[in-house]
Amino acid sequence: MCGIVGYTGNRKVIPVLLEGLRRLEYRGYDSAGLVYQYQDALVKFRAAGKLVHLEQTVDEHIGEEAYTGLGHTRWATHGAPTQDNAHPHSDCTGELVVVHNGIIENYGKLKQGLVADGHRFSSETDTEVLAHLIEKYLKDDLVTAVRKALARVEGSYALGVMWLKDPGRLVAARNQSPLVMGVDTDACYLASDIPALLPYTKKVIFLDDHELAVLEKGVYTIMGVESGQEISKEIKTIHWNAAMAEKAGYKHFMLKEIYEQPQAILNTVSGRIIPDTGKIDLPEIGLSDEDINKIERIALVACGTSWHAALVAKYWIEKWAGIPVDVDIASEFRYRRLLLHNRVLTVSISQSGETADTLAGIRLAASLGSRVVTICNVVGSTMTREADGVIYTHAGPEIGVASTKAFTSQLSALFLFTLYLGQVRQTIEQDMLKELGTALIDVAALIDTTLPVMQEQIREMIEEYYDAKDFLFIGRGLNFPIALEGALKLKEISYIHAEGYAAGELKHGPIALIDKDMPVMALVPQDSVYQKTISNVEEIRARQGRLLLIGTLGDEHLIKLTDDVLYLPRVHEELNPLLYTIPAQLLSYEIANRRGCDVDQPRNLAKSVTVE
Ligand code: M6R
Repeated sequence: MCGIVGYTGNRKVIPVLLEGLRRLEYRGYDSAGLVYQYQDALVKFRAAGKLVHLEQTVDEHIGEEAYTGLGHTRWATHGAPTQDNAHPHSDCTGELVVVHNGIIENYGKLKQGLVADGHRFSSETDTEVLAHLIEKYLKDDLVTAVRKALARVEGSYALGVMWLKDPGRLVAARNQSPLVMGVDTDACYLASDIPALLPYTKKVIFLDDHELAVLEKGVYTIMGVESGQEISKEIKTIHWNAAMAEKAGYKHFMLKEIYEQPQAILNTVSGRIIPDTGKIDLPEIGLSDEDINKIERIALVACGTSWHAALVAKYWIEKWAGIPVDVDIASEFRYRRLLLHNRVLTVSISQSGETADTLAGIRLAASLGSRVVTICNVVGSTMTREADGVIYTHAGPEIGVASTKAFTSQLSALFLFTLYLGQVRQTIEQDMLKELGTALIDVAALIDTTLPVMQEQIREMIEEYYDAKDFLFIGRGLNFPIALEGALKLKEISYIHAEGYAAGELKHGPIALIDKDMPVMALVPQDSVYQKTISNVEEIRARQGRLLLIGTLGDEHLIKLTDDVLYLPRVHEELNPLLYTIPAQLLSYEIANRRGCDVDQPRNLAKSVTVE
């Protein structure tokens, strides 16, 4: 949460900072600010609300001959999203500025001491203590002062610091919040996430916890925060390009990302299913066949949409690989007694690879002796660096806060993982392996051809539903997690209260909610639990619920139950979750769009949740 950018080089800095902030705005959009060094002063602009307000404020300065600066887009934790609380924050002299992502947990105590020493605060943020703390230790060396300040800080931070008396230099440091440097021959960049760097450089260095970097024009030094010892770091090359993080003519990133799903699935599968044999190849998984044969249990850990992917995977892994699976929400996992050991494999699922709770979960699992594999979309993210093995989803950058293509790519990766386990443990026959692998590839093609028709039909259907106050989603078996996912999507971008239920669970309470005003989207493919789900649909119908059915093409029965039926092509039953997710995503998108909601930047949310 919160996005940091920094630049020092030969380009004019304001456009670089604004472009970086635009590309990081998905991380937080309560307020934004920037600072740059101009002649013999630091010039600071801050604005409450979205980035556009900052852009308007800075507009007439855009071409200023300034070449070093920092920017920030905020997701408020401490203090309301006002201009005064927007970053950058300054020390008492105004000559030192800080941008920060994370939470300084002991800020109250530190602030008390600083106030007693005579420091004057002008915001309610935890971040401002960093500026004053560094000021307290600052004599003539900024790096030393930052290191001394950080020695007293508890909590998480990715930060950028600038000092007027040290022109052309930025100091950055990281602990538990992501920070990546971009390097070039004549410049250095700083960012919370890769999209901010894509227009300028593909060469990046991921900072690790307790590391501090000094950035100058094309030169940098990295050292340990505590030790001050220089550290040599690998420069990585990023294979995404700048256009991948643009809207490409779509009204919203979310819609573009919904349409990118067939390609994202194929990219995730590519090279991992050997066409002739159906053999699965996952070389980066970091586990030998012997390791896999020894697994007694798998613990899947994730948050939000990624947790829904884990719930689907439990059905798959238990059925096809015969391994018991626990699924946990990471914020619960990390605070309960975990019965983990070296024969339990922990698998984290995360688009960003930076989600604080999931990261803490895998650290805990590793400390208990469990091997850790991560399924992740962002190359080089913290989870991928800490796990023993990685299965990358190749969805490309996901910018919309509502996760779409990351989810179906996660499902694809988890399906491959299931097949791989079955292959190694010989619980899946060779023919079946091939059939299932082919079915996964086929579903991508079917989504591709049916997506525009689905969108058209759903756009018409939602005229009846877009002003609903509540919404239910139901499904059974593999489609139960998809009902949860549909409800989450609708809540987060349209602000309609929505719940997902296992269809068979309705009669244990939620059916009391059903009346003529309650819309229910029911996922009823002709699968092995079809008749059971239809019975649940009948129970809703008997109570006059407004049914919206998603079912299999050719199922004439559905149209007798309601006027609102969306037919999808028949796919292999195991792959229904990938296909049935699409109408749920489109329903949420069309409703949110119809209601005039801010689809890509829904209120109170941020894309990457790097605080607890
Ligand atoms: O980056 P992660 O996959 O770890 O993120 C987990 C959740 O924060 C994320 O899926 C969130 O629930 C989405 N906004 C849902 O659309």
